[in-house]
Amino acid sequence: MKTIIVYTSKYGCTEKAADVLKSRMGGEVEVINLRRTQEPSLREYDTVILGGSIYYGKIQKEMTAFVNKVMPQLASKRVGLFICAGNKDQAAQELQTAFPEVLLQAAVATEVFGDEIYYSKLSLIDKFILRMVKGKEQKSGSGLSLETIEKFAQSMTH
Ligand SMILES: Cc1cc2nc3c(=O)[nH]c(=O)nc-3n(C[C@H](O)[C@H](O)[C@H](O)COP(=O)(O)O)c2cc1C
Repeated sequence: MKTIIVYTSKYGCTEKAADVLKSRMGGEVEVINLRRTQEPSLREYDTVILGGSIYYGKIQKEMTAFVNKVMPQLASKRVGLFICAGNKDQAAQELQTAFPEVLLQAAVATEVFGDEIYYSKLSLIDKFILRMVKGKEQKSGSGLSLETIEKFAQSMTH
């Protein structure tokens, strides 16, 4: 079984999630950051996992463009979809709008992995906007669920 994990990440949470997922998958796993690497060919992979993070309700545009481009190829793959998102009330809905409906229905696993925010890393504008939206500065820290990532990996490999 050959797996590729393709992700988009702004501050590194999704990157960390992709690396943890890789370590839990077993077999041969390639991990590609779509914002730093050329769009990969999916030809040699039978399992394709796509993940991104949510800003203002949406997944990164690079992920949406990539998914739209490779949709026909995904029909013959085992597909897994995940997001990293901080808004617990909205995340399930954000997952539904992050990827096309047909892909969500065909996927072997779909999950929200949680979030991670370190205020010192944020750009001034992101800090400012987050403070406006949330009312006050939130605590920095990781809310990534290793348990959820583990469960996702099990679904993908069984
Ligand atoms: C400016 C800003 C806007 C955000 N907007 C949302 C949002 O609309 N919904 C949500 O669930 N999470 C939102 N988040 C939380 C991120 O999705 C979360 O921190 C995620 O872990 C970031 O992953 P990344 O570091 O891979 O980009 C926002 C975070 C920031 C800094």
